[in-house]
Amino acid sequence: MQIFLDTANIDEIREAAQLGIISGVTTNPSLLSKEATSDYETVTKKICSIVSGPVSVEVLSEDADSMIEEARAKASWAPNVNIKIPITADGLRATSALSKENIKVNMTLCFSENQALLGALAGATYVSIFVGRLDDAGHDGMQVVQDTVAILDNYPELDAQVIAASIRHTIHCTQAAMIGVDIATVPYKVLMQMIQHPMTDIGIKRFLADWESVANK
Ligand code: E4P
Repeated sequence: MQIFLDTANIDEIREAAQLGIISGVTTNPSLLSKEATSDYETVTKKICSIVSGPVSVEVLSEDADSMIEEARAKASWAPNVNIKIPITADGLRATSALSKENIKVNMTLCFSENQALLGALAGATYVSIFVGRLDDAGHDGMQVVQDTVAILDNYPELDAQVIAASIRHTIHCTQAAMIGVDIATVPYKVLMQMIQHPMTDIGIKRFLADWESVANK
């Protein structure tokens, strides 16, 4: 499973990139608004200078023609930009047109297996299932991820990779990896939690204490 970082925060991206474990970044307008800027272009170009893997930027338009126009403009910002398009009828029309132009689409806001399947059929490179938001609404978000992975495995001619998105905690990451999903896009806080274990901290302290007790003799 590849890990993408789910943030528009430059410091977090820089820190995580140095660990050598992230393969891409996903942003959205809400994440960008947390950075107190509406300058999507400058932030995206900065992210793309730090990360060589795919960086998702979302369209704000709602009709297909405007989505296509906006996607073309945003895709020109850097070679590794891919375009997040919400799963709507207009979104599918735009995805279908953009995939024919080799502009990579991340079909976003998928909450069902059928939505993800349609995104894949339209030529999306990624289909993002929002696990945490499904859980919040009383559904089993990870089950939708598991079903989608199984469905796309039935049709190898469909190239879409499944992204487990809206990840809220480390157990989501473990479950996603157990399912064999292609990618989990993970907030910085959860990535840091994945690294930690109290037994590791205790182990380091004990090793150092034992070493010092001999070294000081
Ligand atoms: C990523 O592609 C999504 O935009 C993001 O994971 C949504 O997460 P949230 O439900 O925590 O806002």
